[in-house]
Order: sequence, then C-alpha cells, then structure tokens
Amino acid sequence: MGNGLQAIRVLFEEGIRIMKNILFVASEGVPFIKTGGLADVVGSLPKYYDKRYFDARIILPKYMCISDTMKSKMEYRTHFYMDFMGQQEYVGVLEANVDGIIYYFIDNEKFFNGYRPYSDNVVEELSKFVFFSKAALSILPVVGFRPDIIHCHDWQTGIIPVYLKERFAQGEFYRGIKSIMTIHNLKFQGIYDIKTVQYITGLDNSYFQPDKVGFFKDGNLLKGGLTYADAITTVSDTYAEEIKTPFYGEKLDGLLNARKMDLRGIVNGIDYAEYNPETDKFITHNYTAGNFRKEKVKNKRDLQRQLGLEENDKKMMIGIVSRLTDQKGMDLVAYIMDEMCSKDAVQLVVLGTGEEQYENMFRHFDWKYHGKVSANIYYSEELSHRIYAACDAFLMPSLFEPCGLSQLMSLRYGTVPIVRETGGLKDTVQSYNEFENTGTGFSFANYNAHEMLSTIRYAERIYYDRKRDWNKIIDRGMAMDFSWGASALKYQAMYDWMIG
Ligand code: ADP
Ligand code: GLC
Repeated sequence: MGNGLQAIRVLFEEGIRIMKNILFVASEGVPFIKTGGLADVVGSLPKYYDKRYFDARIILPKYMCISDTMKSKMEYRTHFYMDFMGQQEYVGVLEANVDGIIYYFIDNEKFFNGYRPYSDNVVEELSKFVFFSKAALSILPVVGFRPDIIHCHDWQTGIIPVYLKERFAQGEFYRGIKSIMTIHNLKFQGIYDIKTVQYITGLDNSYFQPDKVGFFKDGNLLKGGLTYADAITTVSDTYAEEIKTPFYGEKLDGLLNARKMDLRGIVNGIDYAEYNPETDKFITHNYTAGNFRKEKVKNKRDLQRQLGLEENDKKMMIGIVSRLTDQKGMDLVAYIMDEMCSKDAVQLVVLGTGEEQYENMFRHFDWKYHGKVSANIYYSEELSHRIYAACDAFLMPSLFEPCGLSQLMSLRYGTVPIVRETGGLKDTVQSYNEFENTGTGFSFANYNAHEMLSTIRYAERIYYDRKRDWNKIIDRGMAMDFSWGASALKYQAMYDWMIG
C-alpha cells in the first residue's frame, strides 16, 4: 500500500474526518423569533450535531419584531447592495453566537419591518422571502462560510435549491453545494400568478413549466424547492407517507411520489435542556418522573389560582397550546365545547392565537363557563410551560400534523396527550390499552367531533376511577425519549451520505 493510502487509512481508523459545513436557512428560529414548531426545530437541532464533524450555522431574517434583548446579541458584520426586482437593495449582515452556534441575520428594514414575522399579504410575503433567500446565498462568500449542504426549511426558502442550479450555478464558490428541502408544513407553498412570481424571482419562462416552478396557472416556490433539492425530508415517517396521497398531498402528491426515493421522514425531537420539568424556570414547582405523583399537582393549584379557575386539586385539567387554525382541529373542539363543559368533569385551559373565529369561540366559552374554561388569546412562552406542567391531559386533535412538538412537550411534563392518529401524532403517542397496560396517551382515528369527545370521556374515566393506571400512563410517557439524539444522528448520516 502506498504511503498516501496508508496515511488516509490511519486517519480514517483514528476517526478523524473532514469537517462538514451545514447551513440552515429558515424564516424563524429560537431563541430569536418563534411563531411555531419550525422555530423550535431550527434553533435546537444544530446544537445536537457532533461539533467535531459538523459546523452548522443558521441564517434568519433580522425582523424588526425580534426582542431588544435578542437584538443586543447581534453584531454588525458588513453590508452590501444586491440587485433585486430591478433595484439595488441594502443587505446588512449581522452575526450572533448563541450556545456555540453561529447565526447570521439578513437586515433590510423595507422587507423585515412588521410587528410580526409574517403578514397576510401574499405578494409582500413572496418578495420578502425571495429577497431573504437570495441574500442568504449572496452573503456566503462575504462571511467566508462555504456550506457543503444548504438545509432549507419550508416554502420561504424554496427558491434556494432553484437558484443554486440556476444563477448561482455559474459561480465557482457555489458549484457543488448540495441542498435539502425539509417540509414542516405542506399546506403553505408560496403560490401566486406566474407573472408576479416571475417578476419577484427573476426566473425565465422555462422555469414555469409544470415540471418545475409552474403549478397549474401559478408559480409555486415550495414546488421549486421540492423539484430542485438534492434530498427532501419531512418531520415524521407517517407524514412522509401521507403527503404522497391526494388527501394530505396539497396537490403536490404527484411530485412527491415521483421523488419518493429522495424523500424521507425524520421525526422531530425537542430540546430536553429547555423543556425539563426538573429545572424549568417558568414553572412554580419543579418535579421529576420520580416525584410527579406528589409535586406536579402543585403547578395545577397555582395555575388555577393564576387564571381564576375553580381551585380543586382533583378536577381534571385539559390544556391546549396551539395556533388556533383548522389544521389543529379547532372546529372539532368548537363543536363539542358545550357538551364537554356542561358536565362538571373537566377544566379547559387554552393558550393560542390564530383565526378570529376560534379566538372568539374560546373567549365566548371562557365567559359562558367562567371558572371552568380559561381562554388566553396571546403568545406567552411562560404560560405555555406552566400549562404543560399543570395540566393532567393535553388535547391535540389535528386534521393533519407533520410532526407536532406540543405532544412531545406534554409527554415530557407528565401530561397525557389526547390526539388524533395522524402524522407525527401517530408516530409519537401510543394509544392506551387497558388490557395490556400499555400506551402513553389516548387517541382516535377519524376526524369526527364525537369520536374525539368519547375519547376525552374515556380518558376522564381512567383519570377519576383508576388513578393508579392513569399514573402508569404518565410513567410510560415520561420514560419516552424524544430528545434530539436519535434524529440528529439520522440527519448527520444523511449529510455524510450526500457529501460522500
Ligand atoms: P406548529 O408548529 O404547527 O404550530 P408544533 O406542535 O410543532 O405546532 O409547535 C408549536 C410550538 O409553538 C410549541 O413549542 C408550542 O408550545 C408553541 N406555541 C403555540 N402557540 C403558542 C402560544 N400562544 N404561546 C406560546 N407558545 C405557543
Ligand atoms: C410545522 C408543523 C408541525 C411541526 C413543526 C416543526 O409547523 O405544523 O407539525 O412539528 O412544523 O417541524
């Protein structure tokens, strides 16, 4: 064996591998900005990669609505002007290092100035995120980070795999960079008429064919990402299967079937350092899998007092922490609210914002069943943790659920999930079987309000009549491991396989 080969073998055997550069590009990420689970994933997953082999960094927009505390962690790096929609647009670059992860921020006050990260104006959203995506690619040589893989998240970054194979393909710096498109939610795709999408993206006519960015009579950014990315992932095995069917496929099931060899599901984890009932700073009484039988209820007592609910240790408390949308099954909840509350068996605590009809529905029932129902129509990290800790059960009857993190948080806090068997909910919650004494939660199959209600009633019976069995469900739930460990390894294996 030649000396060179031998040296390589020695290096390999010693486990010394070449550092791989991974870049996450996303529209939100904790601890900077969050509206939902996407932010949890983007901000926590890279922390769990093996730092000896992976240098993972994150690019986010510098929204005006990021808190001052988090803005103060950013440092100005540089700025330049970039051609975008026929104008020279300012691209500021800021940098922050949090928990050993480097974040870059794209600054431009015109695009990122709202009081929320997203608006309802589709054209505004499209131009905001195409600008962001193009800027994210453009800053890379400037900050001196050449990723081996760009890992794109959701429609907001769908144009990146397209650009990598189009205008950026000419530059030597970008040649050979691979891309991954991760679907966190197929419902949102970034769709508008071809003329507008063409104007915003600058792509020529040939890209608007039905096998590329064209989508019926429109342009579709996520479709671009799914067509051009080297690999596609989504956030649970079941959702990876579901989206290949017309019911869940959002009219992209054909494309996803065509790319099924490149599509895989990797279930989300949660940040076990952040969501830990033993150390959580937001909750009033910390507890563990060993002492929850005595200690957890103290959180319920405090929350009942805080929210003006009847103070009763024994009353079963059900929580909802959610975007209040159709996706989350809120129409089912609306349908059975009266029936559920008229019997004096449960208290319901809701924290969420979203569609006005659901916000008002919960406000109405808070008024009607005061002391039994508490509707908190706002966003609060602190209250969310208190609900996960205080409640006995957590309701998540989603119509579809790519993964879902709230049920994982509930399991971690010894709060028994009641879910519909779809997507990640099906993969992460095992249905209680009273004959075999197995299961970590309660579940129902059909999207039907009374099927949900009878599942809630069944959970009530176990809670009130068979408390020992109920506590064993909690034991099993708290013993589950939904930290990032296993899934982070799967992502790393995929990166290794793609880069070679
Ligand atoms: P999705 O991303 O579809 O909204 P997930 O279950 O994946 O659903 O993640 C939701 C995340 O957002 C969880 O961390 C949950 O605690 C949080 N969350 C949702 N609504 C609120 C709210 N009103 N206040 C605080 N946290 C919220
Ligand atoms: C999306 C999905 C949710 C998933 C989250 C993070 O918002 O709705 O199911 O857990 O992304 O991947």
